[in-house]
Amino acid sequence: MANKEDLFKKIIAHSKEYGFIFQSSEIYDGLSAVYDYAQNGVELKNNIKSYWWKSMVQMNENIVGIDSAIFMHPTVWKASGHVGAFNDPMIDNKDSKKRYRADVLVEDFMAKIEGKIKKDVDKARKRFGDAFDETEFRATNGRVKERQAKMDEISKRLYGAMDAEDLTAIKELIEDLEIGCPMSGSKNWTDVRQFDLMFNTQMGSVSEEANTIYLRPETAQGIFVNYLNVQKTGRMKIPFGIAQIGKAFRNEIVARQFIFRMREFEQMEMQFFVRPGDELKWFEHWKAKRIAWHQALGMPAEKYRFHDHEKLAHYANAASDIEFEFPFGFKELEGIHSRTDFDLSAHMEHSGKKLQYFDPELNKSYVPYVIETSIGLDRMFLTILSQAYNEEKLEDGSTRVVLNIPPVLAPTKATVLPLTKKDGLPEKAREIMNELKLDYNCAYDEKDAIGKRYRRQDAIGTPYCITIDHQTLEDNTVTIRDRDTMLQERVAIADLSGLIREKLKIQF
Ligand code: GAP
Repeated sequence: MANKEDLFKKIIAHSKEYGFIFQSSEIYDGLSAVYDYAQNGVELKNNIKSYWWKSMVQMNENIVGIDSAIFMHPTVWKASGHVGAFNDPMIDNKDSKKRYRADVLVEDFMAKIEGKIKKDVDKARKRFGDAFDETEFRATNGRVKERQAKMDEISKRLYGAMDAEDLTAIKELIEDLEIGCPMSGSKNWTDVRQFDLMFNTQMGSVSEEANTIYLRPETAQGIFVNYLNVQKTGRMKIPFGIAQIGKAFRNEIVARQFIFRMREFEQMEMQFFVRPGDELKWFEHWKAKRIAWHQALGMPAEKYRFHDHEKLAHYANAASDIEFEFPFGFKELEGIHSRTDFDLSAHMEHSGKKLQYFDPELNKSYVPYVIETSIGLDRMFLTILSQAYNEEKLEDGSTRVVLNIPPVLAPTKATVLPLTKKDGLPEKAREIMNELKLDYNCAYDEKDAIGKRYRRQDAIGTPYCITIDHQTLEDNTVTIRDRDTMLQERVAIADLSGLIREKLKIQF
């Protein structure tokens, strides 16, 4: 496979060519960091949603779902702390005219040092074989220690400056590290400025009366403001959770990396309400549950890691990211946060409504503590695509491009292919397809040679191809071809649906 940058470009091109993702408003040259999901993309996206919803809501008796509005009362965002504080430090390069997030420039610089450490570790592992002890090597190797110390020093300066909102100190750090513009190499920087991430608009017909309202930057607040309604109408007992999937909007400063950082995106969030004092136990519980969710899809364990936050947001007493190794490195895919009682208490204060829970076992009322799990749907989509895209060299010397999407998430589960367009094969194929499509998303294809049709299905990740040939007309059997192994098996038509169901099974 080509280098990682090439791989990423190929994934983007493939997404367009095979109807997964298009640039929004492409005929008008596109809108930056906004994307449309195409015919195959929307199926994959819906399948990811459904896998999440099933495992979070339907498999847990104490978690229910909601679908709250995108527009909310403006005071919600004052209470949540977003108004005036939801911003990122940005910096412009005066020569290239490119804009960057100042903290990300420094983080990318640190990632390069980390990459060098990893290279040293990998080399040593090869040299020492089974006897290799990574912890000891990191603690004793002079060069690694020096690099680690440099990283620690940069991290201390960066997060210290971010916490203190000291924009001058961030600029000094960029200059001291001699960080150049990633596009042009120029070190001619503007000062660092704060950039508000919330989109706003006006609600109301008469401009004097109109209220500024915001497009929500996270779905979580829709859950917090409905906490009491759900608890009472659902007779929920602590511990319990409320989940939702929905759009969120952030006016991101830099929006590169395809669907990794978008201005309009979708989140799948769950707030789990617990007794004060129990939150760290539940925090660990949800960390374990969520990583298991990712790995149940058969994704390689070494591509995931936790990044526990040392610096915590003012409302959190523990936080960890699940990071995935995208083609551009390990990056945040999901956040798990112990948000204390910050949000409910803030809404209580701003709304004047009591948002407490009466705990019959303790015989007292309290404001519940909250553990949040928050994953970007689009990032999950990119995770699947990054892992699935493969260029395979075949025995005959040709290359096939295949998307090894976990079968349960694949846009089309099975495509029905008559071997030829005559002799009643198409009619038989349609008959089978009409049966199967009641259970699965299926497709039909009779155009081109069978080999070419298989390749087409490989490229969109269809796990099973069902071929109807002359023998089918005699004994009601078909061949079923497995996308990953390319092996074909002859099976009875009557067994097809059950067979596919078995293959799509997943352990939540
Ligand atoms: N309610 C908590 C919250 O919103 P966050 O870390 O800001 O926390 C949660 O976002 C997740 O949403 C991230 O882990 C990421 O997967 C996704 N996300 C955040 N900003 C995004 C963006 N601009 N584009 C795509 N996904 C994004």
